Amino acid sequence: MGGGAVYFHLEPKIGKGIINDSNAELINFYIELSYNFKDLIETVKSIPNNKEYFNKIRKFKPETSFEYAVRYLYLNKTAYSGLMRYNSKGEFNTPYGNYKNPNFEITQEQIDLVKSAEIHNCDFRKIPITYKLNDFIFVIHPMWKLGKDIISYSLLIKIKKNYISGF
Ligand SMILES: C[S@@+](CC[C@H](N)C(=O)[O-])C[C@H]1O[C@@H](n2cnc3c(N)ncnc32)[C@H](O)[C@@H]1O
Repeated sequence: MGGGAVYFHLEPKIGKGIINDSNAELINFYIELSYNFKDLIETVKSIPNNKEYFNKIRKFKPETSFEYAVRYLYLNKTAYSGLMRYNSKGEFNTPYGNYKNPNFEITQEQIDLVKSAEIHNCDFRKIPITYKLNDFIFVIHPMWKLGKDIISYSLLIKIKKNYISGF
């Protein structure tokens, strides 16, 4: 489960939620979605869903934040398993998913939740906020390699004191 899924499930009230990820493309997508969702979704829907176009979009080098967001949504919905994977050169390398009807729709409710959030793009330890009693923080830890296994820990924290130790 991603931090995004938790955020949309909790539906924080206006001005109460914070979204952060160090991935600039993901955060750019959220920001474009909050300003420009109609154009964004229409543009993505106008791109054919087939392997030829998928490969074109995969190689496409966006020049504007809107183009980055279009590319992000298209690849997220048409790549195998929605996996957003890049090689060491920063090139997207997930193969085509071959899904007949990818769902590009985003509900007005989801857009409103993104619009009402404070959005950051930084290391989670550097988010400029003060934590208060009963605040809820969900952190997906980066994955680590332990021997042959990939492991990942998520942190679920409800603030019981006025500080968090261990960050
Ligand atoms: C499993 S993905 C979840 C993606 C997305 N946030 C979601 O909810 O679907 C884990 C995310 O953690 C982000 N990440 C890794 N290390 C981070 C850090 N130190 N600070 C902030 N985000 C980090 C990665 O960029 C990646 O997008």
